[in-house]
Amino acid sequence: MDYRLRRQRLLRQLGEKGILIVPTATEQVRSRDVYFPFRPDSDFLYLTGFGEPEAMLVLLPGRAEGQEILFCRERDPERETWDGRRLGVDAARDFCGVDQCFDIRQVDELLPGLLENREILVYPMGRSMDFDERVLRWRRQAQARSRQGIRYPVELVDLGHLLHEQRLYKDPQEQERLRAAVGLSAAGHRHGMRQCRPGLHEYALQAEIEYVFARQGARSVAYPSIVGSGSNGCILHYTENLAEMQDGDLVLVDAGAELDGYCGDITRTYPVNGIFSPAQRDIYELVLASQLAAIEAVQVGRSVNDYHEAAVGVLVEGLRDLGILQESREEILERQLYRSFYMHRTGHWLGMDVHDVGHYRGQDGQWRLLEEGMVLTVEPGLYFAPDNPATPDRYRGIGIRIEDDILVSKQGPQILSEGAPKSIGEIEELMALGGVFQ
Ligand code: GLY
Ligand code: MN
Ligand code: MN
Repeated sequence: MDYRLRRQRLLRQLGEKGILIVPTATEQVRSRDVYFPFRPDSDFLYLTGFGEPEAMLVLLPGRAEGQEILFCRERDPERETWDGRRLGVDAARDFCGVDQCFDIRQVDELLPGLLENREILVYPMGRSMDFDERVLRWRRQAQARSRQGIRYPVELVDLGHLLHEQRLYKDPQEQERLRAAVGLSAAGHRHGMRQCRPGLHEYALQAEIEYVFARQGARSVAYPSIVGSGSNGCILHYTENLAEMQDGDLVLVDAGAELDGYCGDITRTYPVNGIFSPAQRDIYELVLASQLAAIEAVQVGRSVNDYHEAAVGVLVEGLRDLGILQESREEILERQLYRSFYMHRTGHWLGMDVHDVGHYRGQDGQWRLLEEGMVLTVEPGLYFAPDNPATPDRYRGIGIRIEDDILVSKQGPQILSEGAPKSIGEIEELMALGGVFQ
């Protein structure tokens, strides 16, 4: 990864009057003295590749002693015996290729001085109230010296405003990492399909899928896996995963691995017993047709809303054909009557974060146009919740979503998640093979 190039782009954008501060994430207590596994902040990781906690990047265009400073933990044999190895400032400087590296314990002492004579201060605003306060304290300290003729930042800018456009376009190395993360996610889904059977609990199916992720090097899931059987599939972010899966039900699995900082995000829905019932087929074929139409609309030059509209168009036709909605197509679209069964949008950007950064509309308020190197999900669904009075009896409790990860390319949509089967024929065939480890 060309971290240096990424920082250089930011330095150019910043100009001589700017200073940019990017902290990594803060370690979070899970309970008492146990912490959640540490995950670096994506912006910080994108700019440094540095994975340790307690670190901060500072960019200062035109500074004679060096434009790029990293703060990180100094070596400490005692702490390293307990908590693990640290690179230390010298090795971290070389690892990240920055100009200077200081002990993170010096940051409060050094930052006010670094702010002097900088007018524009860029940092991740509002992400952590503690960090906001800290930045404003440094700024106040710089301001206190203004009577001595020193200038201090008067313009505060959110980091995302400068950086997130860059992150939205995935370079070839990032595309490779995404391919790997999504490919591994697909392998997990394939394995899950083969293990699935009535009597297995949702958490056991989750474990089978996440086993494949972990076995191949993913240190985390990209988000908590959703394994919802029966009407649990109608709860969009169901993560309890506690129920025993029943013969005759579907199971909706939304699971993705995070590999080397990049996320997979795949949903497949399949019958617990391996064979779709006629009612399940009706809805599955409709969601699949809508998903295929949406993927076809993921083309360079088309808007990010086009593929949502393509999905909705097919769903609306199908809901009318099945007699679930009786109104005219125009009225259904106008009054968004489909939202009773399809209440979310058809996708989002994907990258280092599962709901990745980048605007969906331009400054003119128009939906932005797709360009090469963007990566997004396409994930239409239909959810017939049992307690929704509009749900027909035949489809009560059916929840289906099909989600793929797509690289926008001049050659047409590239489906990174094609390793996970999604036609009824392919799914039934794979499930019939049964639970052998692939
Ligand atoms: N897994 C979250 C989503 O599909 O957006
Ligand atoms: Mn998903
Ligand atoms: Mn998604």
